[in-house]
Amino acid sequence: MISIEDKLSKRFRSGGCGNLSPEETAPPPYWKPEAGFVSSLRWFVQARHHACTVCELRFSRTEFHPPMRPRNIIDIRTHESFARGHLPYSTSIPADELQERLLEMPPPVEDPLTLLGESEDHISAAQQLLVEKGWELSAVFSEVDVRDDLISTDPSVQCWRPNDFLECVIEELKDRLPAVGVAIDYGCGSGRDVVYLAQRLKGWRVIGVDNHSNALARAERLARRYGVDVEFICQDLRKDPNLNTTADLVHGCRFLSRPLLVYCKHEVLKDDGLFVWSTFADGVENPAPPYRTSRRLVQGELKRLFPDEELEEIHYSRGTLTTRQKPVPAEFFAGRKKPARTEGNPAITNALETERHERA
Ligand SMILES: C[S@@+](CC[C@H](N)C(=O)[O-])C[C@H]1O[C@@H](n2cnc3c(N)ncnc32)[C@H](O)[C@@H]1O
Repeated sequence: MISIEDKLSKRFRSGGCGNLSPEETAPPPYWKPEAGFVSSLRWFVQARHHACTVCELRFSRTEFHPPMRPRNIIDIRTHESFARGHLPYSTSIPADELQERLLEMPPPVEDPLTLLGESEDHISAAQQLLVEKGWELSAVFSEVDVRDDLISTDPSVQCWRPNDFLECVIEELKDRLPAVGVAIDYGCGSGRDVVYLAQRLKGWRVIGVDNHSNALARAERLARRYGVDVEFICQDLRKDPNLNTTADLVHGCRFLSRPLLVYCKHEVLKDDGLFVWSTFADGVENPAPPYRTSRRLVQGELKRLFPDEELEEIHYSRGTLTTRQKPVPAEFFAGRKKPARTEGNPAITNALETERHERA
């Protein structure tokens, strides 16, 4: 009997199948190391009385291993067929939900997908849709090809992930974040990052804001499917950035409103709060939208906006974010808001004095 590994290492394209070279059959690395991502994190551990000690942490995407490695097997059979048995580590997205749930796929430019369906019609429609949208298919099976391997009854594997930068920062720092807090994802779009935040920050109030109601509806469905609570707010952040709350974590990706950033710094981010932002920046070439300079950072802009006196820099780098399958220059910035200085503020000095007195 041919094992599933053998079957997976064969390429079944619409035109037939062929043998692959070892490089082609090698599983793609879950994390591809990339210049600029192996970064030095300076984390300012807050000790008592706001004294700060500095420790150096190194992290790279290659060091992070998710518990169950997704194999990018997309099972487009019905929920019932999937429940009866499926290939190990596969993801259930029935054919009639595929269009809506494309955002639950791994990024198209990275790992090829394996597709498993039950009817020829479903398989070829799905194949066409996925290839049109930029995914590469490494194998396509119909149920009969792999009947003996449909042995798993484990839950469907999550094969989407949030933006790499957010994931790196949260995975590295999650043990240092408070047990409860408020996290806001500005310009959350269809919700991958905000749903991820709700998954990782159990007990937190997690808010996603966007002015695009259709995107928010998709995000709400994503949150429901993955069983997390997220508060979604439909609001034009360029007109009104106020959400009537402060936050312990402020995040944005591929969205830029300069007044919003200033507002977050002064009005939203709590002392010690984490700021994580990555968005498009000017480069030598701007191969894809946004083309308007008002929607792109100029070099080092986030660093200048959050100077050292206000934010302790955790990470800054320039790199690329992919849009329309093209790498577009981008900046990645994470920092922690420094606690407000107490010297010279009689109200705070008095409060601290009273507390010290009471403890003594
Ligand atoms: C390129 S998408 C990024 C979505 C998500 N952060 C991500 O990285 O996948 C930009 C998002 O910003 C939202 N957006 C643009 N202008 C906005 C505004 N004035 N107020 C709120 N959201 C806005 C868009 O609706 C869109 O969902």
